[in-house]
Amino acid sequence: MGEERSGRSHLVPLLAIGAVTSLCGIALGLLIDWFPTRASAEGKAIDTLWDVLLIVSVPIFVLVQTIVLYSVWKFRMRPGQELMDGPPIHGNTRLEVIWTAIPAVILVALCSYAYAVLRDIETAEANEMKVRVVGEQFTWTFYYPGEGGGKEVASNQLYLPRDKSVRFDVQSKDVLHDFWVPAFRQKIDAVPGITTRFRVKPTKTGTFPVVCAELCGLGHAVMRQSAHVVSPGQFDQWLSDLRAKGRPGGEQVGGSAAAGGGKAPDGKTLFTGVEPKCSSCHTLADAGSDATIGPVLDKALKGKDAAFIRQSIEDPSAEVEKGFQDGIMPNNYKDTLRPEEIKALTDYLVEVATK
Ligand code: CUA
Repeated sequence: MGEERSGRSHLVPLLAIGAVTSLCGIALGLLIDWFPTRASAEGKAIDTLWDVLLIVSVPIFVLVQTIVLYSVWKFRMRPGQELMDGPPIHGNTRLEVIWTAIPAVILVALCSYAYAVLRDIETAEANEMKVRVVGEQFTWTFYYPGEGGGKEVASNQLYLPRDKSVRFDVQSKDVLHDFWVPAFRQKIDAVPGITTRFRVKPTKTGTFPVVCAELCGLGHAVMRQSAHVVSPGQFDQWLSDLRAKGRPGGEQVGGSAAAGGGKAPDGKTLFTGVEPKCSSCHTLADAGSDATIGPVLDKALKGKDAAFIRQSIEDPSAEVEKGFQDGIMPNNYKDTLRPEEIKALTDYLVEVATK
């Protein structure tokens, strides 16, 4: 009797400490801004799921830690107790049912909820748009349907119209990558040989980072591009520009995003603006870049000519600078830049780096 009563008396302070700490933990957890800006409809359900998991997990964490710390302090061994053991607790059916049933109920409830959220965000909407996303060391290329279902057109920047559902068909040309736009909250592996998918409905206009979230080699950290969410009108204009540029002799309506507004492309802007950015990997004094993942252009291009520079942009494997590894520089600039953009970039590099 006496022992049971003293056991009960431990319960009250334990519960009080646990409740207060849990509330503080939940408040702190909800106050912390865990994620970047949210730009998709699915993001809302995902962020709410996160909050619910947090609210449920904090009290469990606190419960376990409080019991451990309280027991360490209250029931610690005192001098003379070295050979003593606590009272054995065996065959307490009620206790065992409780500590099995409660976690089981919590787990089943959370799994069902998470499954419902997943089902919900994976449901296709009518008239969804498709974008094929292809990862390779170390760049992403985005393919859009051609005019009237014709040949696909490629872009190295992801453009999406606001408030329209899009399905990403994700593929890889070489190793595992992972297509991730943190603002959309979802990501999926790009796996060689198969197509993986997810859906997003962008809800916020702006420019958001596209990240590779799977360690894929030396250039993994620079496998970053941009997702531009624009108004439906701007998107249609952009896509028709992209289609026009793919056509031989196609009229230049707007120019690429880097060159902008129909102006003749400017080499320096292309160098620092076209993605994946030259300036992310190369040092070039004139452009103010100091990255050293690729050769320092102020040195490597000394005495070289336009033909060499053009070849290095279009086919980086043709001649690899000593001390650097082949296959790090993206080899898709030939597809994603217009011929006049490659010329502008070449002319610019001849101008500022060869003398
Ligand atoms: Cu591709 Cu990391």
